[in-house]
Amino acid sequence: MDTDPIRENLNKYTAKAFHMLPKMNEPCILDIGCGSGVPTMELARLSNGQVVAIDIDQAALDKLSKNIEQAGLSHRIKTLRCSMFELDFQDESFDIIWAEGSISRIGFKRGLEEWRRFLKPNGFLVIHDDINNIHQKLKHISSCGYEILGHFTLSEDIWWAEYYGPLERRINDILMKYIDESKDFVEFDSEQQEIEMFKKNPKLFRSVFFVMQKR
Ligand SMILES: C[S@@+](CC[C@H](N)C(=O)[O-])C[C@H]1O[C@@H](n2cnc3c(N)ncnc32)[C@H](O)[C@@H]1O
Repeated sequence: MDTDPIRENLNKYTAKAFHMLPKMNEPCILDIGCGSGVPTMELARLSNGQVVAIDIDQAALDKLSKNIEQAGLSHRIKTLRCSMFELDFQDESFDIIWAEGSISRIGFKRGLEEWRRFLKPNGFLVIHDDINNIHQKLKHISSCGYEILGHFTLSEDIWWAEYYGPLERRINDILMKYIDESKDFVEFDSEQQEIEMFKKNPKLFRSVFFVMQKR
């Protein structure tokens, strides 16, 4: 199931974080763990800059490449199959590093430490991560050489209204259609499991945007 159109409901928060940065002309942006690129495309629309989008999932990158081409953004967004553990860019090459839903792979502190050198002096790092250990994360931000410019939370109500609620409705619509048309049953196991997990413990799904500047 293509969840990108629902994921796009969260673009307003990508935009909110982006607008917490000072205005920049043609910034170079690195999007780490871009997936199929819903935030990547939004970053290209919000800025007039160049975006390098990296992920290890080739299928997701292929989907993003198609979307880039269709949107006429091939001159602004480049995709690259590359692990966040093996970044091979020149030091100080990006104005902004962006990572939504991906830093947990490497760990918050390690990501902050290892990605810092790729930022230009006074460059910006924006992380969208789960809310776990938020006080510890805020401490890591200053101990790893960044200043926090601001942070905001996406509550469980936001996640329900903007993502899990619409996802559940979409699944139910599709299932009803299949029943009406007596087609073979379709399964949405992973999506339905995630919705059930959300309903059991919605607070676990709160997330935070951290907007920081390299110092
Ligand atoms: C939850 S998705 C987030 C996708 C996108 N940033 C978004 O917010 O819609 C996490 C992404 O991190 C990617 N990822 C996982 N391990 C990675 C690694 N070692 N290097 C780069 N990307 C990785 C996954 O393939 C996945 O696309």
